[in-house]
Amino acid sequence: MADTTAVMEDVKQDNTQNAVPPVVSAVGLLKVFRDFWNRPKARAVNDVDFEVRQGEVLGLLGPNGSGKSTTVKMLLGLLYPTGGRLTVFGKSPRDVSIKNEIGYLPEETYLYKYLTAFETLDFFASLFNLSKTERQKRCDQLLDMVGLAHARNRPVGEFSKGMARRIGLAQAMINDPSLLILDEPTSGLDPLGCREVKDLIRTLKARGKTVIVTSHLLSDVEDVCDRVIILYGGKVRAQGALSDLLKIEKKDTITTPSLPPEVMDRVLAILRENLKGEEFQIDHPRMTLEEFFLDVVNKARVEHVETFGARSGGKIAEYLAAPETTAATGAELLNQLAGQEEVKAEKTETAAPAEQTVVANTAALDQLSRDAEAEAAAKRNEEIRQAQKDKMADVNDKLSSLLSKKDGE
Ligand SMILES: Nc1ncnc2c1ncn2[C@@H]1O[C@H](COP(=O)(O)OP(=O)(O)OP(=O)(O)O)[C@@H](O)[C@H]1O
Ligand SMILES: [Mg+2]
Repeated sequence: MADTTAVMEDVKQDNTQNAVPPVVSAVGLLKVFRDFWNRPKARAVNDVDFEVRQGEVLGLLGPNGSGKSTTVKMLLGLLYPTGGRLTVFGKSPRDVSIKNEIGYLPEETYLYKYLTAFETLDFFASLFNLSKTERQKRCDQLLDMVGLAHARNRPVGEFSKGMARRIGLAQAMINDPSLLILDEPTSGLDPLGCREVKDLIRTLKARGKTVIVTSHLLSDVEDVCDRVIILYGGKVRAQGALSDLLKIEKKDTITTPSLPPEVMDRVLAILRENLKGEEFQIDHPRMTLEEFFLDVVNKARVEHVETFGARSGGKIAEYLAAPETTAATGAELLNQLAGQEEVKAEKTETAAPAEQTVVANTAALDQLSRDAEAEAAAKRNEEIRQAQKDKMADVNDKLSSLLSKKDGE
């Protein structure tokens, strides 16, 4: 493995040569969690320096509890650093004016369980002051992209873990952000979903977007990240370009089409003659398990095998794949994704089934009563959903007026 200190020096030099200001800059970043008596409980992030440039995909790696999510939350202004300097787009992470430029997928997906997939995305879209037509367009394109167009009108409370994760991902991109922060985006996703997330990250990078991603799935990180930072105990243990960190300088790999035996014999003779007793190895390249899995699932899809779960996502949402345009500025409402109010699943009581008195014991009456029951439950769910929508609109208004007051100050 390459000398990581040398690589870090190279990266520093590259960055100083590059005149464009970094999207994220952290110098001596420190976060100490304290207990009730203000005694230090955990030094979650300890003197961390790093920069992220525009168009880069940075992987934030490290074992459980090494400080990845804490770093991410400081980038979003959700946690105050205890020390050091941290800027995002050259401003404080708590500056409201940068919130429009950031998309965030939290480690846990929090959703209103009675809202449908479409209503959920529409709610987040409304926080960015998008027009109704634009909201509808983005929501539909995103649902298609994350493979949930068929579940558009199902309440998200019914979703499997991976389906909820997919909605979370769509939500993070509703504002077409310049900086996307994904905390374990592939957690809970099937290999199809993982591949789609990676494709999406590549597309966003091609459009000049900056992505910070934390993950324990190293092969995923390896596939999409330009650079990685490895944290341990809140400290940076290694950072640099993957191409430099992972290169094994002293070995070569040559891949050729399958060689006929006489050609192989000649190649072996040359190698033996030149390597003078040193060991070498010849084998067949293997496909990865991911490639094999996707092959099996794609065949099932071609054969139209039915599934009620997530389907393979559609193409990348057009508005995300389109050439970059100047991001619309609106009342920068949101401390939302990066902000204060996490959209927590409401603990609303499940609608009790409608009380039914079945007087006659015939099949027809049974069916009638089942229909009525379903209708009553659906009506009740609809009422709860409407109440939640009203409540969210109310929160939205309050946030809006709070922020406009703040802007006016
Ligand atoms: N709100 C908090 N109060 C106290 N300690 C905290 C808090 N949040 C995080 N920590 C501590 O900070 C350290 C880093 O936690 P963090 O969540 O950043 O780790 P992580 O790298 O994201 O881990 P994982 O891979 O498990 O998600 C841990 O020791 C954790 O217990
Ligand atoms: Mg974490």
